[in-house]
Amino acid sequence: MDFLSGRSELQAKDFKTKWQAPSNIALVKYWGKKGHQLPSNPSISLTLSHCQTQSELTFSPSEQLAVELFLDGESRPSFAAKIQTFLEKLSSDFPVFKNTKVVVHTHNTFPHGTGIASSASGMAAVALCLADYLYFLKGKDRDDNFMKLASFFARLASGSASRSVFGGMVSWGEFADEAQMSDLFATPFTAHESFNDLCDSVIIVSSEEKVVSSRAGHGRMGDHPYAEARFTEAHKNFKRTIDALRAGDWKTVGHVLENEALQLHALMLTSPESYTLLKPNSLLAIEKIRQWRQATGVEAYFTLDAGPNIHLLYLKKDEKSVKAFIENELRGAYEQVIHDQRGAGPALC
Ligand code: DP6
Repeated sequence: MDFLSGRSELQAKDFKTKWQAPSNIALVKYWGKKGHQLPSNPSISLTLSHCQTQSELTFSPSEQLAVELFLDGESRPSFAAKIQTFLEKLSSDFPVFKNTKVVVHTHNTFPHGTGIASSASGMAAVALCLADYLYFLKGKDRDDNFMKLASFFARLASGSASRSVFGGMVSWGEFADEAQMSDLFATPFTAHESFNDLCDSVIIVSSEEKVVSSRAGHGRMGDHPYAEARFTEAHKNFKRTIDALRAGDWKTVGHVLENEALQLHALMLTSPESYTLLKPNSLLAIEKIRQWRQATGVEAYFTLDAGPNIHLLYLKKDEKSVKAFIENELRGAYEQVIHDQRGAGPALC
């Protein structure tokens, strides 16, 4: 890859940059990896608008790699250690990080303790700053490869973060005839214009910390009896989804969306070391969503991340009735709701 050339001669310098990056919700899930942080199947996601992480990174020359991190002004050594480990790994390919000190100031725009994963938005914001630093050291203006490099870095930090580097819909992972798609970085996906204002109401069923992290969950796919069947299904669901997204066929997208969420959680339940991240209220909400859809014909479909919270996706024209449904029918089943929608992607602050 062209952006990887000439990287061993780079010298650390003083530099400061700040990016904000959004969270994303996967329509077809990445669950299981191979090689060095590569996905076992292609995935596609919707980039969100309101759930963002803003990170300012200050780089300076140093005897050795050092990272400090402050979340809303408060020192967070455990988060700093994660970035430090990530940069240590990166420094075998980019030796300049061996002589760089990085100070990170970070802030999430979504409320704390909502159980919304901040790793995709957080790692994407850091990755954008790293790409900016390398472009600065190379004396290059940002070009078409800039976002690719940022997505490449983001992927190494957290797979789903690779997709948070672009707005709209974003795919990641090699797939048959889609020559633009890669396992190494994500690429923007052009869907039918009827999805330009797709909405996602995030129903926070529980903000408790997860018992098993996504990283550990991916690991449990290693000896999962249904792993191969899952990867085959994911490829089929991916094809169905991109065809339907291009055709403007929301009903088909919606069916796959729910199937993907349930496959993900079924894999957790059936893994040799079984666990569940679903809460009773997650199942209650799923039941009510299905009944309401059947009764009213409103095409709102649920999906879930690796957690108990429900993402309810629907077209803008149905916004009023969906919001009323959540407030009236799901009351008591959730802690709070974040009404989000398709977002434009990251921005330099
Ligand atoms: C269920 O990207 O958090 O949200 O690469 O180990 O950091 P790591 O995993 P992560 O996994 C995301 C899993 C998922 C599905 C998805 O976003 O595609």
